[in-house]
Amino acid sequence: MRANPDIESDVQRCRTDDETAVCVEAVTFSVSTHGGRLDILRGVDLSIPKGTLVMLLGRSGTGKTTLLNCLSGLENPTSGRIRLGNVDLTALSERARTRFRRTSVGIVFQAHPLVPHLTVAENIALTMRLAGVPRGSWKTRIDEALAGIGLLRRAEHFPDELSGGEQQRAAIARAIAHRPPFLFADEPTAELDSARAAEVIRLFRRLAHDDGLTIVMTTHDLSLLEFADEVYEMSDGRAVRRTSVPARAEPVVPPDNAS
Ligand SMILES: Nc1ncnc2c1ncn2[C@@H]1O[C@H](COP(=O)(O)OP(=O)(O)O)[C@@H](O)[C@H]1O
Ligand SMILES: [Mg+2]
Repeated sequence: MRANPDIESDVQRCRTDDETAVCVEAVTFSVSTHGGRLDILRGVDLSIPKGTLVMLLGRSGTGKTTLLNCLSGLENPTSGRIRLGNVDLTALSERARTRFRRTSVGIVFQAHPLVPHLTVAENIALTMRLAGVPRGSWKTRIDEALAGIGLLRRAEHFPDELSGGEQQRAAIARAIAHRPPFLFADEPTAELDSARAAEVIRLFRRLAHDDGLTIVMTTHDLSLLEFADEVYEMSDGRAVRRTSVPARAEPVVPPDNAS
């Protein structure tokens, strides 16, 4: 493996305090394939403080999506432990894990699958219904989530009436409307131009720093890294922490009042 002075192995174990929102200990994930066993995650350790925006880097196929799926409770690791807040996700039954995911986790999938026959507002309402949010507050939450991402005028549109970038933003609104403490987003800015990507990152930073959400997102866009509180890189089935982030050449995130 190539030595890189910017990264260091993150071998620390999680502290069990209230400030640690996401704790991942020695997580492995293996699947059997026709070619034999494939070890996708080989011992991931992460300790993420509450209210942090974490960006996860790595070449295609390095296990970023698999790790996010484990963090969000969609997959159960082969071994190891994942704690979100004071809940040990890996100790829950599948049913309890599903319940926890619906109420406490927001997920933005890489291929933003909004339900095609529901409007944007109905898609968001569905998530809130599953999360048990009282019906009386749905409208306010929908408007708030869409306004936060500049998509209010699209509330009554169907997904196929939106551009790829708008669908991606609608998927983000859907992931946060029930106000989960954890948000896991797989390439949430992949289909956005740099101004839109900057808006999403600005929103994520606000959610993390003002509202205390803990956010883990994957990205290929190196220009976004400096807006992360922490950056990890997937390599050899592990997550290694980058201790320094390259300086950007020009401002990527315009001020709030920019058009
Ligand atoms: N269920 C599965 N069965 C077989 N191979 C899988 C499965 N899930 C992921 N993989 C493989 O594991 C590797 C990591 O996948 P993934 O987590 O999607 O990586 P990334 O998101 O970093 O591109 C890829 O080579 C992928 O093809
Ligand atoms: Mg992926």
